[in-house]
Amino acid sequence: MGSEGYLLNQFLCRRVNRRTDEWGGPIENRVRLPAEIVKAVRAATGGDFLVIYRLSLLDLVEGGNTWDEIVVAAKALEAAGVNLLNTGIGWHEARVPTIVTSVPRAAFRGVTARIKRELSIPVCASNRINTPEVAEEIVASGDADLVSMARPLLADPEFVTKAAAGRADEINTCIACNQACLDHAFVYKRCSCLVNPRACHETELVIAPARTPRKIAVVGAGMAGLAAATTAAERGHRVTLFEADTAIGGQFRMAAAVPGKEEFRETIRYFETRLARTGVEVRLGAKATARDLEGGFDAIVIATGVVPRRPRIEGLDHPKVLLYTDVLRERRPVGRRVAVIGAGGIGVDVCAFLLHDPNETTEHFEKAWGIDPAVSREGGLGEPAPRTPRREIWLLQRKPATRSMGAGPGKTSGWAHRLDLAREGVRMLGGVEYLRVDDAGLRIRYDDETQTIPVDSVIVCAGQESVRDLLPAGADGTPSDPRYHVIGGADVAVELDAKRAIRQGTLLAARL
Ligand SMILES: Cc1cc2nc3c(=O)[nH]c(=O)nc-3n(C[C@H](O)[C@H](O)[C@H](O)COP(=O)(O)OP(=O)(O)OC[C@H]3O[C@@H](n4cnc5c(N)ncnc54)[C@H](O)[C@@H]3O)c2cc1C
Ligand SMILES: Cc1cc2nc3c(=O)[nH]c(=O)nc-3n(C[C@H](O)[C@H](O)[C@H](O)COP(=O)(O)O)c2cc1C
Ligand code: SF4
Repeated sequence: MGSEGYLLNQFLCRRVNRRTDEWGGPIENRVRLPAEIVKAVRAATGGDFLVIYRLSLLDLVEGGNTWDEIVVAAKALEAAGVNLLNTGIGWHEARVPTIVTSVPRAAFRGVTARIKRELSIPVCASNRINTPEVAEEIVASGDADLVSMARPLLADPEFVTKAAAGRADEINTCIACNQACLDHAFVYKRCSCLVNPRACHETELVIAPARTPRKIAVVGAGMAGLAAATTAAERGHRVTLFEADTAIGGQFRMAAAVPGKEEFRETIRYFETRLARTGVEVRLGAKATARDLEGGFDAIVIATGVVPRRPRIEGLDHPKVLLYTDVLRERRPVGRRVAVIGAGGIGVDVCAFLLHDPNETTEHFEKAWGIDPAVSREGGLGEPAPRTPRREIWLLQRKPATRSMGAGPGKTSGWAHRLDLAREGVRMLGGVEYLRVDDAGLRIRYDDETQTIPVDSVIVCAGQESVRDLLPAGADGTPSDPRYHVIGGADVAVELDAKRAIRQGTLLAARL
C-alpha cells in the first residue's frame, strides 16, 4: 500500500520526506524504504508469492512526484520483486476529486497506460471503473492488464459472476456517492452501501423465502418502494407496485439529470431489470387511491415520497419563481441571473444543473481541476482552467453561513461541490431573510441591510414534505390499520437520503 499519502508514499515524495541521509534526497533514495520492504517481503514469502504494490501515479498534491521520478520508483520496485503494480491516485489531502461521482468513469486510465510502457510486469488500472464494459474496454485497449474495483463490489458482490454469465444488466452499479462506504469509514461507522444495504450486514439483513406468500401493494416506485417491492417479490410474495408517473425512479430521476450524477441512472436501470426478473406487477401511470388499496392486500406499503416545501415569502406566485421540480423535472426555462433559495443538497444540485453540461468529458474534468495528465509538474498538479460561468447564481440560506455551505451532505465529497461552485462564481450567502419577490428581483435582508438581488429567476429548494395522504393515520400519526407501513420520504422527509429509503424498504420487505 504505497499510495494515497500513507507512509511509503510519504517516503517517496519531497512533500514529506525532508531527510538528508540515504533515505531522502533524490528519488533513488526516497524509493529505498519501499524497495527494501518489497525485498524483505519477497525474501520472507518465497518466489511464488504474489506481491502487488500500489504506487501513486498521480499524487495531486504540491511536493508530489513528477513523471520521471515515478518511473524511477516503479522500476526500482519491479527490480525489488513486485509482481504486479496497481495504480494509486491522489493523496487523501488532494483537493482534486479522485473517486466522487462527478469524476468520469476510468478518468485515470491514462497514467496506468503510460507506466505499463515502462515496465515488464502487469499493471492494474483503478478508480471509477464500475461496469464490466468499461473494465473490458480498458483491458482490450491494452491500457492495463487488469482492473481493480473497490466500491463496485460493495454495491454488488455478484458483479463478477453476473458479468461472466452475460447478465451485466442485473448488476447493481456503484454510483460513486460515498454516502454509506467512505462517509461511514471516516466517522468510524461500519461501511455499507447506499444501493446495497446488505453490504457488511450480510448476516443480519437476511432475505429468506417467506413462510406464507402474501399479497402486497407498494405505492410509489421511488427508491424506497422499489427496494421494498423487489425484495418482497424475491421472497415469494405477490407484489403490485403502483406508480403515478409513467416511469419508475421517483426523485432519483431528477438526481440523474444533474451533471456529474449521471450514474444515478444505473440504479433505475438496475431496478427496472430486477422488477422484471422478480415478477412484480408494475402499474405505471397509476396514481393509487384509497379505493385501489381497499381489500385484497395483506400488506400495504406507502412509499409515496415527498413534494417540495413552499416557504412563506411574499411574491412567491411571481412568474419568475420556480420550484426545483419545475427546473429538474419539467425543464422550465431559467434566466441568466438566478437566486437559489435553500443551500442544502438539492440547492447545490440545482446550481450544478444550471452551470454544467451533462456528461462532461475526462479532458474537461482534467482542465477544470487542473490535472496535468503528463505529470510534468509536481504531483501532476496544474492550474485549474479559468471558467466562464453560464449563469450568475446566488445560493442563499436562512441559517448562518458555515464552512460547509454549498457542500451538500457528503463528508467525503462535499468539499468538491463547494469548490466547484466557488470556481463557477456562485455567491453563497447565509443568514438571509427573504422579504419579497417582484419584477426587480429578490428582496432580502442580509447583514442588517435590505437589498434587492437583481435576478431573472428564483428557484425554491427549501425542503420537502412527506406525502402521506393514503395513510389511515391514528391520532399519533402512526398507521391505524396494521396492514399499512410507511417508508422512505413518506416516513421522514430528509432532503438527500436515498440510503435511508433503500435500507428501510429492504428491511421492511425482509420481515413482511
Ligand atoms: C435533485 C436531487 C438529487 C438527489 N440526490 C441524492 C443523493 O445524492 N443522495 C441521496 O441519498 N439522495 C438524493 N436525493 C434524494 C433521493 O432521491 C430521495 O431521498 C429518495 O429518492 C427518496 O425516495 P422515496 O422512494 O422515499 O421517494 P420518491 O423518490 O419521492 O418517490 C416517491 C414516488 O411515489 C410516487 N407516488 C406518490 N404518490 C403516489 C400515489 N398515490 N400512487 C402512485 N405513486 C405515487 C411518486 O410519483 C414517486 O415516484 C436527491 C433528490 C433530488 C430531487
Ligand atoms: C471504504 C473504503 C476504504 C478504502 N480504504 C483504502 C485503503 O486503506 N487503502 C487504499 O489504497 N485505498 C483504499 N480505498 C480506495 C480504494 O482502494 C479505491 O482506490 C477507490 O475506492 C477507487 O476505486 P473504486 O472506484 O473501484 O472504488 C478505500 C475505499 C473505500 C470505499
Ligand atoms: S455507498 Fe455509494 S459509493 Fe459507496 S459503494 Fe455504495 S454506491 Fe458506491
